[in-house]
Amino acid sequence: MSKGSHEQSKYPRTLVTAALPYANGPLHLGHLAGAYLPADIYVRYLRLKGEDVIFISGSDEHGVAVTISAEKEGVSPQQIVDRYHAINKASFEKFGMSFDNYSRTTLPVHHQTSQEFFLELYRQNILVEKSEKQLYCEKDRMFLADRYVEGTCPVCGNVDARGDQCENCGTWLEQTQLINPRCKICGTTPVVRETKHWYLPLGRFQKELEEYVNSKKWKENVRGYVDSWLKEGLEDRAITRDLHWGIPVPLHGYENKVIYVWFEAVLGYISSTKELSQKRGEPNLWKRYWQDEGTRYIAFIGKDNIVFHTLIFPAILMAWNEGGKSRYILPDAVPANEFLNFEGKKFSKSRGWGIDLKDFIDIFPPDTLRYALALNLPESRDSDFYWKDFQARVNSELADTLGNFVNRTLQFTQRYYDGRIPPRGKLNNLDKWAVSQMQETPGKVAALFGNFRFRDGVVEAMSLARAANKYFNDSEPWKSRRDNPEQCATTLNICAQLTRSLSILLSPVIPFSAEEIWKMLQLEGTAAQAGWDSAAEMKVEQGREIGRLSILFTKIEDSTIEEQIKKTASGENTEKPATPQAIAPIKAQISIDDFRKVDLRIAEVISCEKVPKSEKLLRIEVQVGEEKRQIVAGISKHYKPEDLIGKSVVIVANLAPAKLMGLESNGMLLAASTDDGKLVVLTTASNIDSGSIVR
Ligand code: 2FM
Ligand code: ZN
Repeated sequence: MSKGSHEQSKYPRTLVTAALPYANGPLHLGHLAGAYLPADIYVRYLRLKGEDVIFISGSDEHGVAVTISAEKEGVSPQQIVDRYHAINKASFEKFGMSFDNYSRTTLPVHHQTSQEFFLELYRQNILVEKSEKQLYCEKDRMFLADRYVEGTCPVCGNVDARGDQCENCGTWLEQTQLINPRCKICGTTPVVRETKHWYLPLGRFQKELEEYVNSKKWKENVRGYVDSWLKEGLEDRAITRDLHWGIPVPLHGYENKVIYVWFEAVLGYISSTKELSQKRGEPNLWKRYWQDEGTRYIAFIGKDNIVFHTLIFPAILMAWNEGGKSRYILPDAVPANEFLNFEGKKFSKSRGWGIDLKDFIDIFPPDTLRYALALNLPESRDSDFYWKDFQARVNSELADTLGNFVNRTLQFTQRYYDGRIPPRGKLNNLDKWAVSQMQETPGKVAALFGNFRFRDGVVEAMSLARAANKYFNDSEPWKSRRDNPEQCATTLNICAQLTRSLSILLSPVIPFSAEEIWKMLQLEGTAAQAGWDSAAEMKVEQGREIGRLSILFTKIEDSTIEEQIKKTASGENTEKPATPQAIAPIKAQISIDDFRKVDLRIAEVISCEKVPKSEKLLRIEVQVGEEKRQIVAGISKHYKPEDLIGKSVVIVANLAPAKLMGLESNGMLLAASTDDGKLVVLTTASNIDSGSIVR
């Protein structure tokens, strides 16, 4: 047996996760090549092997990645994640990512799981509270958590490193390490201020992590990163943040802080599995995959996520395990890929460089991209997507090799055998060669897929299609049909076996086309259920009738590719960050001096009642500093008096007095009128003293 399948057989089941992408923008080809396509190929392959496997992912919906996108567009973080969760989930489905569950980190099940982990580590006295220096922007009046600060990476010199991480070299940074830090919002240089946070003491787990790392087999590119971090020595890392969007820290005194997004995102794999358990009506299913030594856990990610999956996540799980309540398993492999570039440069939303999945799928079928990317995965170093390569792969490999072989086999069968698989006679040497190719390929591909070498595995599977074409050519059935009918029938029978075998072996890579081939052969079930090892067997019975033929792959015209190349050059293919729409002016412009004439003050509502016989008016008594005032406002349809009492509001204090239904009104409440015709009184935080000037 091959090494790959031998290794798996120790474990009765496999848990596969793929990084939870931030729901802050549309996914592009680089995401697919980094983690999702290899994970999906792997899972589909394991299912074909008949293994017990689940495939877990979801949207990462917290963190500064999301709030920055929301601020750029002038909408709420919730609106951003609702939009991109839907878009990204749909793209994944269209490209055939066969997740068993695709969850969201804003779901209650995830908030609970994360807070439970946080509290467990807190109760075990593992977490450390410290007051430390952080970067603070005096202009924006906030601590610049994570991506709110950018600067030069002290390790590789990348000038656009973010506060928590340098994407270029993968280093996990402490923001105070950045050289020339600048505020992402206003560009100014932040100052250093003290703030309180909870820290995960990674140093405490250094030895245990080293043992763990040394006990596993890592891909070379992954091992390199991990070793260098361990060599440097692990330090305490803050796992709370001064932010509002996120999972609240479940401790007193931390009401305005949230759990660091990376602490909880990795736990999202567990929550997503819990959600799957609920959906399947098996509440304990998740424990089988996370807490049973019989599970092998494989985490697919891109290279910028390596530290979090090889050290941080294992450390969090080790910390939990110390509590002795229940034991979580650790990742057995983290097959991280490097980056995919696009036509020689990094994908960039802001520079409009690249193409999003949702746009790609409108032009080309999903299998064409899956196939082209699979052969170009950045498995050991960065790779590039070029439109011309894509076209060549589709035209000369999918259409001319695979498509052509399937087509000529089935057409010949249709035309000369009345659409029925002819009988197989005695095999000559050429036949024997073709059959041996078919028998050997599944094991070879399995050894490669099983060791996360998907590129080579696909090359191997495709070489069976090449061999099959060669077999058809060399057998010359168009001649033997007349001089040696028995031989011709044998050739076509073996070609049908090869067609079935190719459909199975390629189904992890091009699942949609594999099923189309399966249908044309009119075989029972699906290619995905056929069983991997059966690809080595001659299972197509003689006399079986084949179905209607369809074109598997259409060639891509030069003009179509030229058009894409043009769009690439002009940056038309990616969604640029939305520029906030300018509001249409509804009033004439005023000067700052005009505005200064308005005396706006904070006031507190002390009493409020309906004005008798009026449908609209409320009589409101407010406290403005030392002074009490009466204001009559037309908001009775929108507020019950008791809803306003105690609220801090903004009033125009120097409005000329007016009489309404016989009552004097001294000032006016500010309110917003919404699109659906409601009036919403502007309220403010209760800690602003009444009488304060608003300007
Ligand atoms: O890099 C990213 O897009 C992160 N949202 C990946 C998180 S993976 C895991 F922790 F959930
Ligand atoms: Zn700033």
